Amino acid sequence: MGNPLNFACGGCDELAARLAALDRGAPGPGPSVRAAHQLIASGLARIKSILDNLRRYLSVGDAQLVATDLAEEIDQALELAAERLRSAGVRVDKQIARLPVLWTRPGENHQVLLNMIGNAIEAMPGGGALRVTAHAHDRTVELAVSDTGPGVADEDRDRIFEPFFTTRRDAGGTGLGLAVAREIVMRHGGTIRVEAADGAGARFAVSLPRREAGER
Ligand SMILES: Nc1ncnc2c1ncn2[C@@H]1O[C@H](COP(=O)(O)OP(=O)(O)OP(=O)(O)O)[C@@H](O)[C@H]1O
Ligand SMILES: [Mg+2]
Repeated sequence: MGNPLNFACGGCDELAARLAALDRGAPGPGPSVRAAHQLIASGLARIKSILDNLRRYLSVGDAQLVATDLAEEIDQALELAAERLRSAGVRVDKQIARLPVLWTRPGENHQVLLNMIGNAIEAMPGGGALRVTAHAHDRTVELAVSDTGPGVADEDRDRIFEPFFTTRRDAGGTGLGLAVAREIVMRHGGTIRVEAADGAGARFAVSLPRREAGER
């Protein structure tokens, strides 16, 4: 799979071979040297954008756990995405039950929610419905985001949480959204999985542990 570092390294190897040929008296740099340089330059530009994203994503990683009202976090994330949802013609259906207080890091929930909501919007370019649900079980709270897009192909299901896996490279996807979401959820002791939504589309379900304040 296209890890940009591999592209950049491949380009470097190619350049090194060409330069070695130059040292042996071959003609001056030609198109393939320029192509190798292009490969390196585009690989490095992608690495830069990925690192910029990572820095933004993980900048809140060391914050303290605080008492969190997940329903409020969901409202705020939907508010932040409101303009994108509106212009994509995506209808929002929200079903939030009474939830216990959760201990989480502020900002990180937002990131998880926004990554899932962003993916859902991208999966429904012609509009559709976004469903956000949350309800409490005995030991966990389950939050789910589903859409009416094409869903995740069976062969991709095991890979979509891997860093850099994307089917949206042409649209600027870095393949980090779900990898970061999974990292955050795991740091909170939770799990994230994908399943087929009722009817059509994808459903991403996050399960977070309920903890008493003393168990922090
Ligand atoms: N709601 C969804 N419907 C269909 N496929 C999805 C959905 N969400 C994620 N995917 C698939 O999972 C892949 C990985 O998602 P992820 O959010 O990690 O990266 P991305 O959206 O491609 O890029 P980035 O989030 O970095 O901009 C996507 O490229 C897409 O193939
Ligand atoms: Mg994404």
